[in-house]
Amino acid sequence: MDDPLARWHAEHLNFSALLDLLELQLAAFHAGDRPDYDVMVDIIQYLRSYSDLVHHPREDVAFTRMAERDAALSPVLSRLMQEHRVIAWAGEALLRRLEESASDAMVSRSEVEAAAATYLVYYRHHLNTEECEVLPKARGLLGEDDWKAVVAAGPAIDDPLIAEVAEARYRGLADWVSKRRGGHYGARHPT
Ligand SMILES: [Fe+2]
Ligand SMILES: [Fe+2]
Repeated sequence: MDDPLARWHAEHLNFSALLDLLELQLAAFHAGDRPDYDVMVDIIQYLRSYSDLVHHPREDVAFTRMAERDAALSPVLSRLMQEHRVIAWAGEALLRRLEESASDAMVSRSEVEAAAATYLVYYRHHLNTEECEVLPKARGLLGEDDWKAVVAAGPAIDDPLIAEVAEARYRGLADWVSKRRGGHYGARHPT
């Protein structure tokens, strides 16, 4: 996939599919069943390592450049950049709760549920805003040099969820995303 905008959108669909899986685990937790902590931890670890460290830094560059060219977009873009920091913080907090809970530490069920529900609502709203208010404007505002700067803003690593390079620990997540998206989830990153 060479089109950076298509890749950007594909990553959002992948993240969204993972949030759906997190919600299913949360529902099991809420129903009193034991959720699959490994799956939940892997989802957050993936989002912490790829979305927070690669996807969001790239967006920060794209958003900064878009705001310079369309002042009307500046408020929403500033808010989204702030949300990147909040998402990272909320993800770390949820990860800690999950790890403590999985090891049978004294973590209340409601604490884990609240952290996960907050993360889900916040993240989904963030993705929805980007999809509805930002991506449709990106192609008109960003040129080839901008896209190069966007890609260069994140570490030149492959998405660990992509099939050809999927890390062993993420294969289960990759299968879920693939099924959820009808077999379309790939987005190799240029390096
Ligand atoms: Fe974002
Ligand atoms: Fe995004």
